[in-house]
Amino acid sequence: MKTLTVSGGRELSGEVRIRGSKNAALPLLFASLLFSEPVELDNLPAITDVETALALLSSLGVKIIRKGSERVVLDPSSARPSVCDRGLTGALRGSLYLLGAASGRLGELALPHPGGCNFGARPIDLHLEVLRAMGLTVRATEEGVSVKGRPKGAVFEFPYVSVGATVNALLAATLAEGRTVLTGAAREPHVLDLIAFLRLAGARIATPSPGAVVIDGVPRLHGVTYRVCPDMIEAGTYLSFALATGGAVTLRAVEPAHLFPVLPVLSEMGAKIGTGVGTLTVFRPGRVAPVRIATAPYPGFPTDLQPQLTALACLADGESVIADPIFPTRFGYVSELRKTGAKIKVADGRATVFGGTRPAGAKMTAPDLRAGAALTLAALASEGESRIMRYELIERGYADFCRNLVSLGACVTLSDGDA
Ligand code: UD1
Repeated sequence: MKTLTVSGGRELSGEVRIRGSKNAALPLLFASLLFSEPVELDNLPAITDVETALALLSSLGVKIIRKGSERVVLDPSSARPSVCDRGLTGALRGSLYLLGAASGRLGELALPHPGGCNFGARPIDLHLEVLRAMGLTVRATEEGVSVKGRPKGAVFEFPYVSVGATVNALLAATLAEGRTVLTGAAREPHVLDLIAFLRLAGARIATPSPGAVVIDGVPRLHGVTYRVCPDMIEAGTYLSFALATGGAVTLRAVEPAHLFPVLPVLSEMGAKIGTGVGTLTVFRPGRVAPVRIATAPYPGFPTDLQPQLTALACLADGESVIADPIFPTRFGYVSELRKTGAKIKVADGRATVFGGTRPAGAKMTAPDLRAGAALTLAALASEGESRIMRYELIERGYADFCRNLVSLGACVTLSDGDA
């Protein structure tokens, strides 16, 4: 177990380079199974979730050639449908994407149940439903889930927006026989990144209107080199840190347009934000202001920034209400945040935050990736020293997190064990 020790109360200022998007990188990596020739991915974030995905692909016979810390060539020509390691699928929710990706070329795959961030029920019924609609034999047991057969085009209307099920449908439809028409599909930047990547490789995918996707199956994809899009959640996290501590922070290699649902919320909370080509600069001239917000699928406010926003709201002058209808039980971290003196009431999938108390350093345990970032925010803004245990959960999705904080002027150190 690793622990991040934070001496809080310092302004953060300086520059951070935003890495490739975790949520885009995972579908792109698993999409390599659709190819019969090598594909190269650049701007892959150096995070443990990417390592887990690479290990899973390697176990399926995909040859991995590393070209530096953020570039990899994946050669799937010898891939075969073998049994995936429970430890690996259990560590990664995105391993579910193997179902759609494997059905296209391998024709079958059995997967132990996927894990990932544990913030309440995360059903997979919609994934199974859309794959079944495409003619695949899908079995879910206590042990895991399996898929068999060659996908066929289908018409499918998502009853609600699901990023994961949309990704699985796209992956299965790319090499399917015939046309697939999806409505109510997710349109997160990372979903659009997958579509752009597949199109570049020869897939025939059209997006005629928001949430509608038409995929005409092609027999094969050709090898390409593709650059993963910037991580809007990493960007939003560092913006929230800047806002929490004061100071002026500039993000480089970011896509400001992807943060369209986030920037107005941060402005409402007191941020002054400047955008440039691939850059964002933030500073806070006054106090943090309270906010009322609910998460929603893109272009709504992302659930992946909900914990960070709740932690930020603790610093605001006044009462904030933050609801997360996508994952109503994603407030497990609040009990940790309260250790800093935060006054938060959680009921019915929403947090009511009574701001205005200066947080005090505390010993906290990160329950999951984004919650770990939220606890870090509280620690950075606190008087005194904090410890955040289970730092390895933060490493799942933030490359060089500790180093970035140091370069912004934070007083943080990393140690092994429960310090
Ligand atoms: C979700 C987020 C995604 C985020 C990720 C990790 C949305 C729409 N999705 O993606 O942005 O990066 O978590 O935090 O913001 N659901 C079912 N059955 C299914 C699939 C989903 O009931 O088979 C429900 C979920 O419980 C949830 C909603 O649909 O309430 C959206 O879930 P989904 O988008 O599929 O989750 P992820 O793909 O994990």
